[in-house]
Amino acid sequence: MLAIVVATGNPGKLKEIQPYLADLNWTLTLKPPDLEVEETGETFLENARLKASQVAIATGQWAIADDSGLVVEALNGAPGVYSARYGKDDADRISRVLAELGSTPNRQAQFVCAIALARPNGEIALETEGVCRGEILQQPRGAGGFGYDPIFYEPTQGKTFAEMTPSQKARCSHRGIAFQMLTPKLRSLVLE
Ligand code: IMP
Repeated sequence: MLAIVVATGNPGKLKEIQPYLADLNWTLTLKPPDLEVEETGETFLENARLKASQVAIATGQWAIADDSGLVVEALNGAPGVYSARYGKDDADRISRVLAELGSTPNRQAQFVCAIALARPNGEIALETEGVCRGEILQQPRGAGGFGYDPIFYEPTQGKTFAEMTPSQKARCSHRGIAFQMLTPKLRSLVLE
């Protein structure tokens, strides 16, 4: 069984990633808490690569990292790679996006999730990016999920991410799509 480090210190993220990788029968562990990787990349993919490589080199193990965020068209792509740092908490970040958008009619937005897998020597073995397109509502709706979920309306389901069950969200979300693309590639890599 392959041991793989998830390049995050957040047990919630490990829990979220686990079901996507369940059939691969890998042991997933969290990165050591004192190992900090600065997210200095200008794109989600650059940050995912950076985190996966540095954690792989530091631990001498395979490492997987994701980087994600919300890209709002009328805000020239903000909050983008700064999604997690756009305010002091989720409510504050949501208020900031709504205030910056004001009554702008262009509500187009997308969630993006980049994933990178690094070999123990830090070399990137696989990478992928999932995108989910939607619209920013005028007001939050729904009580589930996290982050910007209550203001992100996904038109094919007719719901915000915060109104979906976790499995509904996993089927259409940026992270779900990225993992759906990655899993077959991971399987062939394991059989290499
Ligand atoms: P990171 O990927 O941990 O660097 O953080 C990404 C940030 O983007 C999170 O803190 C959230 O604010 C936001 N984000 C990423 N994915 C989602 C999602 O599925 N729903 C809501 N917010 C998200």
